[in-house]
Amino acid sequence: MSREIVAIAADHGGYEMKELLKADLDGLGFDVLDLGTNNADSVDYPDFGHAIGEAIANSQARYGVAICGSGIGISIAANRHANVRAALCHDGLTAKLSRQHNNANVLALGARIIGIETARDAVSAFFTTDFEGGRHERRVDKIELT
Ligand code: RB5
Repeated sequence: MSREIVAIAADHGGYEMKELLKADLDGLGFDVLDLGTNNADSVDYPDFGHAIGEAIANSQARYGVAICGSGIGISIAANRHANVRAALCHDGLTAKLSRQHNNANVLALGARIIGIETARDAVSAFFTTDFEGGRHERRVDKIELT
């Protein structure tokens, strides 16, 4: 059976964390589509937020992980794309809730805000938690503008 694809992207602030988290995603059973950046040189976070957003909107990837210094800029850019629900999470609990209640499909992380072990907790929680549906489905359906 083919593995589901998780796109991952970061700016220079998130580059190092991106490199470390790729192994976690592989260990969780996903194929990783790395959309850059590919070194620590300064780049613009919207380019990478849009890359993740396009990958989800075009069904190139089922989920995404987006990382910048704060996680704010890259999540704002990713969320401009149809059907993208990027959730800026700070730990395992926020990552778990973003799946259970919001059916988030992109996990956004701030590499200058949380450490790698907390980021690993968030990745693990995000990718092992299902959407609860029910009353949350109605609310999630109201997010998308038609
Ligand atoms: C880059 O210095 C920084 O602004 C970026 O990584 C991010 O925090 C933006 O929201």
